[in-house]
Amino acid sequence: MILELAGVHAYYGRSHVLHGVSLAAAAGEVISLLGRNGAGKSTTLKAIMGLVRVGPGTIHVDGRDVTGRPTREISRLGVGFVPEDRRIFADLTVLENLRVGARRDGWTIERALDFFPMLRTLLGRRGESLSGGEQQMLTIARTLMGGPRLLLLDEPSEGLAPVVVRALGERIAALKRGGLTIVLSEPNLQFARRLADRAYIIEKGEIRFGGTIAELDADESVRRAYLAV
Ligand SMILES: Nc1ncnc2c1ncn2[C@@H]1O[C@H](COP(=O)(O)OP(=O)(O)OP(=O)(O)O)[C@@H](O)[C@H]1O
Ligand SMILES: [Mg+2]
Repeated sequence: MILELAGVHAYYGRSHVLHGVSLAAAAGEVISLLGRNGAGKSTTLKAIMGLVRVGPGTIHVDGRDVTGRPTREISRLGVGFVPEDRRIFADLTVLENLRVGARRDGWTIERALDFFPMLRTLLGRRGESLSGGEQQMLTIARTLMGGPRLLLLDEPSEGLAPVVVRALGERIAALKRGGLTIVLSEPNLQFARRLADRAYIIEKGEIRFGGTIAELDADESVRRAYLAV
């Protein structure tokens, strides 16, 4: 397993938000973390990145215990995180944003531009002038510049027009074909279903379902209980 969470609890200050989350992703797998607003999807991804206080419970990346380790150490192990608020640098150009993400053993600018050809036409534009979809592509491209082996995407399709969502889904599918392991957080099944091998449903900080998309499709009561329709 490239990622393994076992009984993870997590907190914001005194607020206890995750109550024993267990999940795993094998190399090359796309798993989806589904659940309604406030269910604990982002907190789970932040826990993996060392951005919230965790304990008890353990988080392993590639067999290495990273529980409680600093974020920069976790990203150095090859974990890339695209947070839900798309933190591009508004004052920097597209090219400068990409350079910020660069690492010696990561992607080259050329590779990122070949992967997202639309960014090539925007290289000199400042981040703040981009559309939501362009910002999302740039955020993902910047994270890929770090050469992750495991990519955490937090609601990447949120707020994007349907045509942009389709383009984004196609790019994520291409990353999957390239062998990247991906954890995709999503509020609903529609975007995730074409991409994910398996899904977990989280509700109130607990995993309520884990299985294949086919198993989830066959279980209407679970979908109805825990997912936005
Ligand atoms: N910074 C914070 N401080 C305190 N509580 C927080 C904080 N961020 C989230 N929470 C709480 O933690 C719980 C889980 O939130 P989380 O952001 O993980 O949900 P989510 O599944 O990502 O929801 P959404 O679909 O809205 O992004 C919620 O009850 C939320 O109110
Ligand atoms: Mg969230």
